[in-house]
Amino acid sequence: MSEFIPKGYDHITTESEDGENSEYILNRESGHHFIITNRSFQTVDHRFSNFPSKTLDYMLKEDGYDDIAVLDIGGGIEARASGDIAEQYKNYDDLAIYSLDLTANPNTRGGRHQIVGDALEMPIKSNSIDIALSTMSVSEVVSGDPELLKKALLETARVLKPGGVFFLDKVYSKQLEQLPDPDQFAHFEEEMEVVFYTKEFGFFYGLYETLIQKLNNTYPDWKFLIMVKKPVNEDLIKELALQGKNKIV
Ligand SMILES: C[S@@+](CC[C@H](N)C(=O)[O-])C[C@H]1O[C@@H](n2cnc3c(N)ncnc32)[C@H](O)[C@@H]1O
Repeated sequence: MSEFIPKGYDHITTESEDGENSEYILNRESGHHFIITNRSFQTVDHRFSNFPSKTLDYMLKEDGYDDIAVLDIGGGIEARASGDIAEQYKNYDDLAIYSLDLTANPNTRGGRHQIVGDALEMPIKSNSIDIALSTMSVSEVVSGDPELLKKALLETARVLKPGGVFFLDKVYSKQLEQLPDPDQFAHFEEEMEVVFYTKEFGFFYGLYETLIQKLNNTYPDWKFLIMVKKPVNEDLIKELALQGKNKIV
């Protein structure tokens, strides 16, 4: 395992009372620690009400989208979600799927898509990504610091192509609990040349319902953010049923 852990971090395993193991990496300098988990695309897809695949389907069938690139930011040590997306869309030639994470185990199925790097300073060209997604990671990346959230959003806006879309799950750190704050987001929008939308978590069923219920009790305002780099394709926004009512600003 240690060969997959970035410099400056320690790998920690803890055991809960019921014998369940959790793995973390710990930043020796800052003391921040990040849980290392991996969810599959199925899970990601449900949590985002199928938005990433809806967007991908749209881009694959509409004119004007070439060499489509998808990026899972903080995609986990085994890059399971991006591996699943790659598997599901393997018949499309001009489609590249990547996962970026501080930790990467290239011996896993997701290995062929993995980029080792920091979400705050991605080793990725500007204007190169059509769809970015991030689940349960940006909250870890920013560690409750609004300035770091801004940095993470700026960095994502940089790598997105014009018209590119970023799906971000709830930033659940305490200090950011009040988001979205329209004033702050109006400022971000201007600076980054993006438009923000928000959406309540909606579509869950089966086992997820229990989980979500639990999360909802802790985080009653659970929402996720969608950031679109201008110019916004209004047809895509309609396809995702976002429209004006979901605009933050
Ligand atoms: C809770 S896991 C989520 C993994 C996956 N997205 C999922 O939904 O299962 C958080 C991930 O964020 C990664 N991470 C934390 N800080 C990061 C940073 N600055 N840059 C890139 N990845 C980071 C951690 O290595 C970890 O894999």
